Amino acid sequence: MAKVETKEKKITSKPIKEIPPESAINKKSTKSKKTTQSLEKPFLETIAGIGPTTRKRLEEAGYGSKEAIALATRSQLTEISGIAEKTAALLIREARARFDLGLKKGTDYEVAAKTRVKLTTGSEAFNELLGGGLETGSVTEIAGENGCGKTQIAHQLAVNCVKYFDQDVIWIDSEGTFRFNRIVQMAQALEIDPEVVLSRITVGRAYNSEHQMALTEEALTMVPNVGLIVVDSLMSHFRSEFAGRGTLAERQQLIGRHLSFISKQTEILNCVGLVTNQVSARPDGIFFGDPNRPVGGNVVGHTVTTRLMIRKGKDIKRTATLTKSPELPDGKIEFSITTEGVRDYKK
Ligand SMILES: Nc1ncnc2c1ncn2[C@@H]1O[C@H](COP(=O)(O)OP(=O)(O)OP(=O)(O)O)[C@@H](O)[C@H]1O
Ligand SMILES: [Mg+2]
Repeated sequence: MAKVETKEKKITSKPIKEIPPESAINKKSTKSKKTTQSLEKPFLETIAGIGPTTRKRLEEAGYGSKEAIALATRSQLTEISGIAEKTAALLIREARARFDLGLKKGTDYEVAAKTRVKLTTGSEAFNELLGGGLETGSVTEIAGENGCGKTQIAHQLAVNCVKYFDQDVIWIDSEGTFRFNRIVQMAQALEIDPEVVLSRITVGRAYNSEHQMALTEEALTMVPNVGLIVVDSLMSHFRSEFAGRGTLAERQQLIGRHLSFISKQTEILNCVGLVTNQVSARPDGIFFGDPNRPVGGNVVGHTVTTRLMIRKGKDIKRTATLTKSPELPDGKIEFSITTEGVRDYKK
């Protein structure tokens, strides 16, 4: 245990999260970039023809920065009241020009990859499965049956984010299962002040899918120093609200929008995205492999970068199976969930 913690501390001791991965692709050093940034006017103030009202509307919709606008589509901006097609096009063009979203060399990706770091899970075996932990700059999905430990893992990652990243956490809670006392227990186990951890977690209790999407966008514009964004759980509201077959297309479209917003933000902020997901029995029935699969279909499957399936064993024992990763082989490990949190499983 101690070994992993020291390693994570060492990795995260450099000022990694101040800038998005793309900006690391610029030839400038982090230091000069920061200095320039502090002297620069906010992006929207530099665009002629964008008045204070329009600026406010864009900011409220989550498009206050050049990074967010650079990654937006024209239709997303024109959905905001008062933003005409021409203005949207101008904003996107300007933002992309200043954000260096053009073509890059393969070697540039090496630089970008170096800005991404891993957030420890609390278990060495689990970290090993993930090549060190949950990676910043993309979304990881944790799926499994009820009671398998998805929310527990999210609590552990929130505490770890404060302890090892020294950054804030956004927690979108759609099921009312965020527990301050679990944070206290896990923080105490890591010898970090629980009050400090709690004060750095912003919780948004989402009461329906629309509320969930709005809270996510609001939190991401409000919280300045995000290291982890948790959506626990991603699909519960969408599943109950869009029950009939006729509403499936609309549901999938909304989920796609919600998830791709989160995914873009994790890239922009270089933070960890974690969504938990429910499972359902495969309708076709299978003879080998897992009889369950995460809900949300291809939209969720394609949008998340890394997929994990958790299964409950006897007592504290759990298994985690990596089923999708752009750079790691599939695999399966054992770990445990104890009062102290996520730990290695000791037989
Ligand atoms: N204080 C604790 N000490 C040890 N284990 C605990 C503690 N609290 C919860 N657990 C374990 O975590 C399990 C609940 O896990 P969790 O709430 O994360 O499930 P989940 O996968 O999020 O389920 P759901 O799909 O219903 O949201 C409990 O059944 C128990 O095994
Ligand atoms: Mg849960």
